[in-house]
Amino acid sequence: MRDFGVYVHIPFCASRCDYCAFATWTDRDELMEAYVEACRTELARARTDERMAPASSVFFGGGTPSRLPPDLLAAILEAVPRRTGAEVTVECNPEDAAADRFASWREAGVTRVSFGVQSMVPHVLAGLGRRHDPASVATAVSLAGEAGFDSVNVDLIFGGAGETDGDWRGTLESALALEPAPPHVSAYALTVEPGTPLALDPARHPDEDTLAGRYEEADRILTGAGYRWYEVSNWARPGHECRHNRLYWDQGDYRGIGCAAHSHRAGRRWWNLRTPERYIAAVTAGHPTMAAEELLTDDQRRFEGLALALRTADGIPEESLPDLPELEGLVERRAGRAVLTVRGRLLANEVTTRLDPTALLRTVPVEVTDDLLLATPPVPLDLLARNGKLGIVVHVDEGTQGPDDDGDRIVGNGRPVTGDEEGQALLDGPTRLLLDHHDVEVVPQLAPVGEHL
Ligand SMILES: C[S@@+](CC[C@H](N)C(=O)[O-])C[C@H]1O[C@@H](n2cnc3c(N)ncnc32)[C@H](O)[C@@H]1O
Ligand code: SF4
Repeated sequence: MRDFGVYVHIPFCASRCDYCAFATWTDRDELMEAYVEACRTELARARTDERMAPASSVFFGGGTPSRLPPDLLAAILEAVPRRTGAEVTVECNPEDAAADRFASWREAGVTRVSFGVQSMVPHVLAGLGRRHDPASVATAVSLAGEAGFDSVNVDLIFGGAGETDGDWRGTLESALALEPAPPHVSAYALTVEPGTPLALDPARHPDEDTLAGRYEEADRILTGAGYRWYEVSNWARPGHECRHNRLYWDQGDYRGIGCAAHSHRAGRRWWNLRTPERYIAAVTAGHPTMAAEELLTDDQRRFEGLALALRTADGIPEESLPDLPELEGLVERRAGRAVLTVRGRLLANEVTTRLDPTALLRTVPVEVTDDLLLATPPVPLDLLARNGKLGIVVHVDEGTQGPDDDGDRIVGNGRPVTGDEEGQALLDGPTRLLLDHHDVEVVPQLAPVGEHL
């Protein structure tokens, strides 16, 4: 079964960091209970109205989820249908770490803690406006270990005002020396988000060369310590990659719960009302919580799929990136894949502009049968599905009842089958055709989307 994620947004913080543009508030803690109740209601509706699948991963992000009283966090989690062995992550600010809180999380089913560490150097933390110190990070990580969390992440930021190369190295080394050592590290270049106080203060903006040097240092130190990069900003020890984030990078389906939360299902994206008050009011009144939606075209989806995959260590099919002189040193080509080098990762956005999303379609051998263009997959289906966006053509033998409009659908991709006996849909993973009268496995025949039917 294909992975499916649930993201729960918790929009409460103790104070506002001046670089942060996330949907979060520091003056609305009194809404916590009503907010949690609204999230439970939204989940219940998604289960019935959208037949929401059991989650393979749940991610509580913020804001500061660790500020929620543990029984409220457990109440939300209890309302999320989950598969056995689901990954459940909670973002935690180090100052919120406590043995009883972690014990409650464990009991509720949380499997992973992601600490917002940012830096291990006091003056850098102060410059970022953080409320914790390096000692509280050590305490927090140790308490998480004692509580039995063996999957722990630390988020780091490089490029803060006043940070030197030595400070950044110190942060990385201290983070790796934490006990127990966190098996996952995210290292983000400080981004100047429009509308934040940081944006109005150019003296504190990091310069590109500094960020490049710090990124290379991060990769060197983390790789040397046995961590493997698997996405531009993420390194993990084998087996500790974040299943939930992988889903985003694989263009998987996920349901966002809570204010400002984003959802995606097979090329349709939508997001909820931004403020907690409006969100709670909408849920209470039985109104939709959606603020807006967008439908991606096949071309947009294909392009985004490649752009996301390019940022991962799996890379993309090499045909999708022309062999241009300006890409020299930025991309490595091996075993049919194009993968970013360390320098390329720094310039991932630049490389993305050179993608050729239709190249793979052109390279799939195609034969014409009965007016349809049929392709035999030359590469594994999941790869085609993820990066090539081929279509599935459902053939039904004469005399057999085919898909109709009474709720028949292809599972594993978003396009409903309409019409009589043949359907076409984007293929984005293992695919089954669900007929209302029975449930059959379909061996898909592949054809480039848009070139038939
Ligand atoms: C939305 S925050 C929530 C976690 C938690 N409240 C915290 O701040 O530690 C998730 C992560 O995003 C990263 N982040 C937030 N704003 C950023 C920015 N402007 N530039 C780079 N990273 C940022 C931080 O590393 C942070 O840990
Ligand atoms: S960075 Fe984290 S703690 Fe700071 S305001 Fe944003 S969500 Fe809150």
